[in-house]
Amino acid sequence: MKINRQIERDYQEQLWLTAPSLEDYVLEQYGWDLSTNLGGIRLKNPWGKAAGQLSLNTTQVDRDAQGGLGFVILKTVIAQDEQGSSVQSAWMVDAPRMLVEKITAQTGEQGWTVSWKGRGWSESFQSYLEFVETSFKLGVPKDCLIVPSCQLPLYRGPENPHAEEYAYTLGALGKVLQKADQPALELDLSPTLLKDGPPPCAQETAEQLHWVISETRQHLPDNIKLGLKLFNLQSFAEQLALVQAGAQVWNQLDWLTLANRLFSPERGISYGGYDLSNRNLAVLDSIRSEEEESGEQILPPSISATGNICSGRMLVEYAIRGCTTGQLHTYFQLPKGEYGYDLGSRTLSALHELMFNPKEGLVASLEALRKQFGLEGELEFGKFFEKGGNK
Ligand SMILES: Cc1cc2nc3c(=O)[nH]c(=O)nc-3n(C[C@H](O)[C@H](O)[C@H](O)COP(=O)(O)O)c2cc1C
Repeated sequence: MKINRQIERDYQEQLWLTAPSLEDYVLEQYGWDLSTNLGGIRLKNPWGKAAGQLSLNTTQVDRDAQGGLGFVILKTVIAQDEQGSSVQSAWMVDAPRMLVEKITAQTGEQGWTVSWKGRGWSESFQSYLEFVETSFKLGVPKDCLIVPSCQLPLYRGPENPHAEEYAYTLGALGKVLQKADQPALELDLSPTLLKDGPPPCAQETAEQLHWVISETRQHLPDNIKLGLKLFNLQSFAEQLALVQAGAQVWNQLDWLTLANRLFSPERGISYGGYDLSNRNLAVLDSIRSEEEESGEQILPPSISATGNICSGRMLVEYAIRGCTTGQLHTYFQLPKGEYGYDLGSRTLSALHELMFNPKEGLVASLEALRKQFGLEGELEFGKFFEKGGNK
């Protein structure tokens, strides 16, 4: 059967649902092993839920593990000291109303964004620790990696004015993480939204990150893999300068997640869509060219993509720039009619569309690459894209 017809059939008939697993099916039918890794931790596939409102309770985590995601990053908890005080307490707010809207990028491309004024985990820190522990148990039987996420206050060293918050929060997270088979933590540090003053600049932010990451490492047991989700500074030039200036910081990390949403000072909210993915892809392009020219690595070996991944095709756009996993938030919030088939659970419906949509899905995009570069035999997603594939 011609490959296009086969993908069309798989899309319409959802045959993978009767196979032992999505991964078995795709390997057997298309010769793609979906395995990859996050910071060196093996994952069965590259699809992840990004930290946020869709990973803040065990029902959501269970649905994602059952639905077949490779990993879930849990809602970000805000650091605090033992007494419960936090310099970032303004972030511990809940704002349940989220508005899923269409958004037109500067290029005219139409995408989706979620307008929302909330911030971090709004319940107690203790309840977060319990949530993390239960989530680990839900992930194990489905081979779904669960990663808590934490926001620490930025500072300029060498003295840490928030030492008690670092010690208490990271101490407690480090302890609960020992209950995971593969302990990993993602930091989310968002200076763009943290202050009311002028937008942070690249040099100052890179310096702050240096202190924060070194200090975090000191507080965490050595067996914990550490990732950092990078935010987006105000302009492309500043963002590029930050990624360049941070080379010495990134090499202390097991992975870097690129990059969180853009910020609109006028509206006071962050947003996504194609402006976000165009920004992230352009930054990756510039950095990769620079690495090629100088022969020196700027980015760590494991890069996780985030930002407007609403199709397998977009994941491949990031992958050919060396991102071997994708973290999605907005796509899992779209009106249900946006997924071609309702397979009972939103995660399952979304994953089917992301994998098998005949035009935009991952299988179709990978097969297009196979054809373009005359690739033969079995290929492993993570290994193939580690250095950007055969671009
Ligand atoms: C409503 C909402 C809440 C979010 N909360 C968090 C969070 O707590 N921690 C975090 O690291 N990122 C958070 N994000 C960012 C997402 O994890 C994701 O990286 C970003 O939205 C880009 O992906 P997307 O274009 O697929 O939405 C949030 C995003 C949205 C839309």
